Amino acid sequence: MKTLIKNARMVSDGCIGEGDLLIAGDRIEKIAKDITPVGNCKVIDAGGKLLLPGAIDDQVHFREPGLTHKATIGSESAAAVAGGVTTFFEQPNTMPQTISIERLEEKFAIAGRTSYANYSFFLGGTNDNLEELKRLDRKACAGVKLFLGSSTGNMLVDNERTIEEIFSNVDLVIAAHCEDEATIRKNLGYYESVYGENIPMGTHPLIRSAEACYLSSSKAIALAKKTGARLHVFHLSTARETALFRNDIPLKDKKITAEVCVHHLWFSDADYAEKGSLIKWNPAVKTAEDRGALWTALLDDRLDVIATDHAPHTWEEKHQVGYGRIPSGAPLVQHSLVAMLEKVQEGVISVEKVVEKMCHNPAILFDIADRGYLREGYFADVVLVDMNSPWVVAKDNLLYKCGWSPMEGQGFRSRIVSTWVNGNLAYDNGGVIPACYGARVCFNR
Ligand code: DOR
Repeated sequence: MKTLIKNARMVSDGCIGEGDLLIAGDRIEKIAKDITPVGNCKVIDAGGKLLLPGAIDDQVHFREPGLTHKATIGSESAAAVAGGVTTFFEQPNTMPQTISIERLEEKFAIAGRTSYANYSFFLGGTNDNLEELKRLDRKACAGVKLFLGSSTGNMLVDNERTIEEIFSNVDLVIAAHCEDEATIRKNLGYYESVYGENIPMGTHPLIRSAEACYLSSSKAIALAKKTGARLHVFHLSTARETALFRNDIPLKDKKITAEVCVHHLWFSDADYAEKGSLIKWNPAVKTAEDRGALWTALLDDRLDVIATDHAPHTWEEKHQVGYGRIPSGAPLVQHSLVAMLEKVQEGVISVEKVVEKMCHNPAILFDIADRGYLREGYFADVVLVDMNSPWVVAKDNLLYKCGWSPMEGQGFRSRIVSTWVNGNLAYDNGGVIPACYGARVCFNR
């Protein structure tokens, strides 16, 4: 059976085109002004609503295996398709950590059984798994992840010689979490001496400071330049770091790229007073000035992709007593696209640019095969969006296993109506369709 979506405003390749899109099997068969249904064909009248390529989130933590009290690949991928995210790249700080090819394949097997969205993973680099990283097939997964600053999961890579070896020998995207550990420790020591155990949450961006971010990301970039590594810096959070990236060459030719996350574009340090530990992330949400500079760098193409760093923890974990005990991270994958579409409504960014940063650019950056665009012959990962259907984020409309969101109480004007993954309807009018439709992502490398 085919699916024909009629009267849509289709956003792809920098344009908005009015017309119809025909899905046959797992692919987009035809895009045209007016397509006549033939044979066994389900016809959907989009009534002028927006039709976008499914978003590709290059940084999520879905916690499986081992941390399934927080989340599972099944639960969070359901939230992803409800949010218009049809492909995700998941991070290695699970239990056990994804630091060998065997562990990587175990994750692929779990996703193959339970993921609603398309999936790939990062293999984690450590101080002593260089040989494993070298053995990795270039087409096997999204890339290699290095925690150059400590965060959830004790995966800090701090041996300078090893880092240089990895940069010199890994011929894949190396995605890095950049925060300078010595600076963080020094700042933490100072604030502990002032407040003891009761460090206020608003101090988080002073402990995980702009300086810590800049020191680490500038060092990683210098090393990438020296070694020729293909470096992707995750979750930029400061104004100062934006100067480290260029916009004078096309993305496909860049050797050094950058991701910015929804929370760093949405919140500022003024929000700690109300949201407290719910917006404790690593790197920290910083000042409104930093946020403004991130938007500027995103819009002028120094920053290449928008992602979430979706990182659920339980409500109880987020409400422990003591700054140091509260884990960093929060769930976002269900709300990333609507949050950015809210910024379209506010006139901050165009819908074409949102599609570029959330759909096209992750596909270009990681050489993803046949996804990220509305194009004939591409996989039918498609999202129907009503830009005029206000709703409010509340506990009863969350799909996250942890059952809370830092966005609760937030109103959005746009709503995800339906999501197709590989041509199958995966989410429709508030409900996830109970079957597994995701596929392992293939790469053109
Ligand atoms: O805030 C964060 N949480 N940052 C990270 O880098 C890891 C993540 C997590 O896994 O909880």
